[in-house]
Amino acid sequence: MSNYHIKHLEEYFQVYRKSVRNPEAFWEEIAEEHFVWRKKWDKVLSWDFSKPEVKWYEGAKLNITENCLDRHLPTRGTKTAIIFEPNDPNETAEHISYRQLHERVCRMANVLLENGIGKGDRVCIYLPMIPELAISVLACARIGAIHSVVFAGFSANALSTRIIDSDCKMVITSDGSYRGAKTIDLKGIVDKALEDCPGVANVLVAKRINSNIAMKEGRDKWLQPLLDEAYADNVAEVMDAEDPLFILYTSGSTGKPKGMVHTSAGYMVYTAYTFKNAFQYKEEDVYWCTADIGWITGHSYIVYGPLANGATTLMFEGVPSYPDFGRFWEVVEKHKVNQFYTAPTAIRALAKESLDFVEKHDLSSLKVLGSVGEPINEEAWHWYNNNVGKKNSPIIDTWWQTETGGMMITPIPYVTPTTPTYATLPFIGVQPALMDEEGNEIKGNQVDGRLCIKFPWPAMARTIWGNHERYRETYFSAYKDMYFTGDGALRDAVGYYRITGRVDDVIIVSGHNLGTAPIEDSINEHPAVAESAVVGFPHDIKGNALYGYIILKETGESRDRENLRKEINQQITEQIGPIAKLDKIQFVSGLPKTRSGKIMRRILRKIASNDTSNLGDTSTLLNPEVVKHIMDNVL
Ligand code: WTA
Repeated sequence: MSNYHIKHLEEYFQVYRKSVRNPEAFWEEIAEEHFVWRKKWDKVLSWDFSKPEVKWYEGAKLNITENCLDRHLPTRGTKTAIIFEPNDPNETAEHISYRQLHERVCRMANVLLENGIGKGDRVCIYLPMIPELAISVLACARIGAIHSVVFAGFSANALSTRIIDSDCKMVITSDGSYRGAKTIDLKGIVDKALEDCPGVANVLVAKRINSNIAMKEGRDKWLQPLLDEAYADNVAEVMDAEDPLFILYTSGSTGKPKGMVHTSAGYMVYTAYTFKNAFQYKEEDVYWCTADIGWITGHSYIVYGPLANGATTLMFEGVPSYPDFGRFWEVVEKHKVNQFYTAPTAIRALAKESLDFVEKHDLSSLKVLGSVGEPINEEAWHWYNNNVGKKNSPIIDTWWQTETGGMMITPIPYVTPTTPTYATLPFIGVQPALMDEEGNEIKGNQVDGRLCIKFPWPAMARTIWGNHERYRETYFSAYKDMYFTGDGALRDAVGYYRITGRVDDVIIVSGHNLGTAPIEDSINEHPAVAESAVVGFPHDIKGNALYGYIILKETGESRDRENLRKEINQQITEQIGPIAKLDKIQFVSGLPKTRSGKIMRRILRKIASNDTSNLGDTSTLLNPEVVKHIMDNVL
């Protein structure tokens, strides 16, 4: 029996039991046998969820890039580490071997060092899905700098907020990016963001679209000439197990994004181990995750997890609809992809198009299909299973979060029998619990509640950058000695979990987490707006879309409503990004509030979802009359 690679259901149960009976012995064995360490740990785990404080492999010394790169050189030097598939199918794909990737990361690491970046410094990476993105991430890890990747679809304002929050000294970006038939002026966005960020001393600029951009003297440097001159080797910095590896921002219920901090050793062990099992990765396989490295899925399952296993991981620069809706399947056929990992929103969008786009491609290489980011609805699941997997490739519906670092509840393909819309069983070492609103654990099966995790797992985030109290408050205060996920879930008769969605003010739109508070803050800054409330409503491609209820100031009342809608969405686009735009905007005279002044979002959600049969008792509201008025004018 191999604990590292689980191959059948009996083995899963055995290994699972072992992992929860004696987690320390279990995680010690995994770490010992499958990774390289400069020094082994003194203690496998210490934890206290009340503080909260969690330490894995304390005392160990390592560098994650030695595990992702150096150790593969003797056996996998010529194996392809990264396949880069460009936006334009006519541009040649690039195959970067482990040896080449090692060299490029070393050069980049030396460039960072020469530009004043050292261990513990924060570096903001704002790049499209080009090899430089993965290389920059790894180069930071190599020298012990903390990377903060900001998704290159975020606005200047969102970018500067993140740069300031973690006090980044450097930004790595490109002249621009391709997105289908469009180009985006990334450097222009960076320039705008940096007007508010005096702490950024250097901007390194990769060339991608060859646009004519302004370079600020003394601050901006083209990356390639620096790489060409840099040494091709670099001795990795020796890191402590609990040294921060990266910061990644996620939306919360209040305005400011939360900079989740992940550390080195536990994150490495867990992402590698989950990758191996959840994809049943075998040495010759080609693996493709369509996420952007700007999200946690890309960090854990494009970069670190696959590379730690010596896998071939594909990076795709483009979009599923360009040049046509067959692009994903064309790439699968071209590179003979074996494991394919995407989001339900992409599946729903593709399912709307003609089946010819799928059928004209040979997808027989596929062995495993993955889903992540939001619940996958039954229809999308079947479409994926029938048309992409031809009923031959198990679908793994992987539930996890930026905060969890790696997959938490997921089938293991060819091991766990799957059921549409169910994330099925907890991964090895994961101890979920369902809680009621009074704080009691709901035991047994055929129950539902709020999803918590009872025991630490190696890849959990350790804190929120600069705000440990917010970390405690958000995740560890709702239920004693539990990590609270913010999600609801049910457990069926056989113990399978199904995630039912967020139970807080986070809305998942096209797989992206959006907090209602930052969007409302942005709307409220519009001079004509007095107050607003944003809720989600079901959308057949995005999963959820945003509905805004807006009260205008008196001065706004005379304004043209269509123009106002455009201006408000423009404002959101500038401050957060286009993903946070409202699909519907209803101008209202009041918002339903409790007597303590809290907006009753539950009612607004129901109205926006056209589900008003069961609004509950509204008579206790401060202003019950507004409910009818809102309902009469719903869009
Ligand atoms: C949701 C993405 C249902 C969930 C890795 C979670 C899911 C949030 C699933 C985290 C799934 C993610 N089924 N819901 N398979 N996967 N979610 O931080 O609400 O971008 O809390 O991490 O996405 O989103 P995040």
